[in-house]
Amino acid sequence: MPNDQVNVKTPSPVKEQTQTDGHDQQLSGDVYYPSPDVTQQARVKDWQAIADFAAQDLRGYWAKEAEELSWFQKWDEVLDDSDKPFFKWFAGAKTNIVYNCLDRYQKTGVQNKLAMVWVGEPGDVRTYSYYALNREVNQFANVLKAMGVKKGDRVTVYMPRIPEIAIAMLACAKIGAIHSVVYGGFSVDALQGRIEDSESRVVVTADGGWMNGKIVELKKTVDDAVRRCPTVETVIVVRRTHHEVKMESGRDYWYHDLMKLPVASGKCQTEVMDANDPLYILYTSGTTGKPKAIQHVHGGYMVGIYSTLKNVFDLRDEDRWWCAADPGWVTGHSYIVYGPLLVGATSFMYEGAPTYPYPNRWWSLIEKYGITILYTAPTAIRGLMRFGESWPNRHDLSSLRLLGTVGEPINPEAWKWYHRVIGKEKCPIMDTWWQTETGMFMITPTPTVPLKPGSGTRPYFGLTAEIVDDQGNPTPTDEEGYLVLTRPWPAMLSTIYRDPERYVRQYWSKYPGKYMTGDSAKRDVDGYYWIIGRVDDVIKVSGYRLGTAEIESALVSHPAVAEAAAIGLPHEIKGQAIYSYCILRAGHSPSPELAEELRQHVGQHMGPIARPEQVTFVEKLPKTRSGKIMRRVLKARAQGLPEGDVTTLEE
Ligand code: WTA
Repeated sequence: MPNDQVNVKTPSPVKEQTQTDGHDQQLSGDVYYPSPDVTQQARVKDWQAIADFAAQDLRGYWAKEAEELSWFQKWDEVLDDSDKPFFKWFAGAKTNIVYNCLDRYQKTGVQNKLAMVWVGEPGDVRTYSYYALNREVNQFANVLKAMGVKKGDRVTVYMPRIPEIAIAMLACAKIGAIHSVVYGGFSVDALQGRIEDSESRVVVTADGGWMNGKIVELKKTVDDAVRRCPTVETVIVVRRTHHEVKMESGRDYWYHDLMKLPVASGKCQTEVMDANDPLYILYTSGTTGKPKAIQHVHGGYMVGIYSTLKNVFDLRDEDRWWCAADPGWVTGHSYIVYGPLLVGATSFMYEGAPTYPYPNRWWSLIEKYGITILYTAPTAIRGLMRFGESWPNRHDLSSLRLLGTVGEPINPEAWKWYHRVIGKEKCPIMDTWWQTETGMFMITPTPTVPLKPGSGTRPYFGLTAEIVDDQGNPTPTDEEGYLVLTRPWPAMLSTIYRDPERYVRQYWSKYPGKYMTGDSAKRDVDGYYWIIGRVDDVIKVSGYRLGTAEIESALVSHPAVAEAAAIGLPHEIKGQAIYSYCILRAGHSPSPELAEELRQHVGQHMGPIARPEQVTFVEKLPKTRSGKIMRRVLKARAQGLPEGDVTTLEE
């Protein structure tokens, strides 16, 4: 049986010293040093000592982190790298992430602690103790089992930001099913493609969710998507908004009805999983073609997100942690659902828009619920900054002790505003660089590390990152190049679901032995990393990761469009915005009305976030001789920049 040690209050740092990282060292540029308050209290006091230890003994460092969690059976090997790049962390071990998120706290004092405080956009509130959350997860796990869901089956989850999204994910993991969460802001084509590819038999959704005072009609989208997905037998619907939805008899069931059945008992055995059994898949857009299903596993993923959340955000018993992302993206998977439960934290979740009904909504929530750590995206900060300081200044934000950012590079202006106006110059900002694929924070400070606005500082313990040129040679200091990772880490993706060959090709073949991130970056004299942006066909709109291919295929699905190209251009609030170029079919002529129709068309098919800022009609698109669209050239033209090397351009 698992060791029942619950280690919530005092996960131990590898080594503690009073000296503070970097203080004795003169750093270049605009540097923010931590206050004595922060350094005295921080869990990681001597960053350098831990980094040195992990650099010398990668396996030893991760084994120590893993030992703070419970295992049904310990590993034979911390890292089995005999079949690179298919790394197996904690090979031979048995566990289940849900055992560590919920089971191990039962019958200890932690069961009475709040696991989740949730606020709906209309103002309704729900709270779950660790006891209550465990019980509801058990009930829903039993429902899924009764529906025939077995270990290894895929379940699609398409939900608003409500507690049941976490419950559904945890219930799947508990019984060994693989969840595939599709962001609730995606629309019918995106949902259908992801259900089809994963061959899910069950879809969990809701009658809708609240966003900006309006109902997002998720069930309707599911109906449209499922009509074309023969694998789906069952749709489970959470009642959230109480507006009327069509229920198809024999296929659709209300969540609250199922949860009342005798079969939905509050006790459920947690499935014993191999550490390298899949936990979930999450679709994300890549360099080319269709979105790919990134697969994460129970063991290594659990250790990676536990360690990073504990050390980077320094979570303590008294904290109220708010990761303001959506559970439908990796940030929500790792740091709303699994991570906070692994460290035994109290996590806050809010359903709606930051500015609804007024631009002070977030600030009032921080005040009312005593949030101590806020983790969000630069786009949200810039969006709120636009309304001025008077909105946050009306609220008492003194509960905050740490801030965080993720999703795209943060411009120093937004960083400084966040630091001064929200953090009152006392909260260090953890700028965490990572990806769906990495599962956990990769380049990130911990609270005592001196900060430079716009830099994620240095790689986390045990990690090494390099910046290389096209041939794989390291670039000189301050020079831009490709960001690659050179050592494995426990939360790394295990493969692309059912496409191992693409996994190798996409991430490990350009620079053999090195993981290619798809980002460009530079490193300064102090060894600090500065992420510049994607070098592939990924567009980051408001921090959301979208692929040009999906947007383009939505455009060409309109009868007027023969060919289309999409690119991302800088945008003041969104970071990047989508610009698209269309060649029309014969018989159609350009007009502002048609441009608007195409924007709406993409919104309806892909989701509002994918709606292009602008649609431009063109006679031809710049292409290589082999027929590939040269988005780089389109980008340069749109910005009035030199077009660079166009020798491969088609005549
Ligand atoms: C970008 C989100 C700069 C980067 C967790 C990466 C960032 C992509 C940062 C992954 C950051 C993420 N600073 N850029 N702190 N965090 N990115 O998969 O381009 O949605 O490759 O994961 O977001 O996006 P994804």
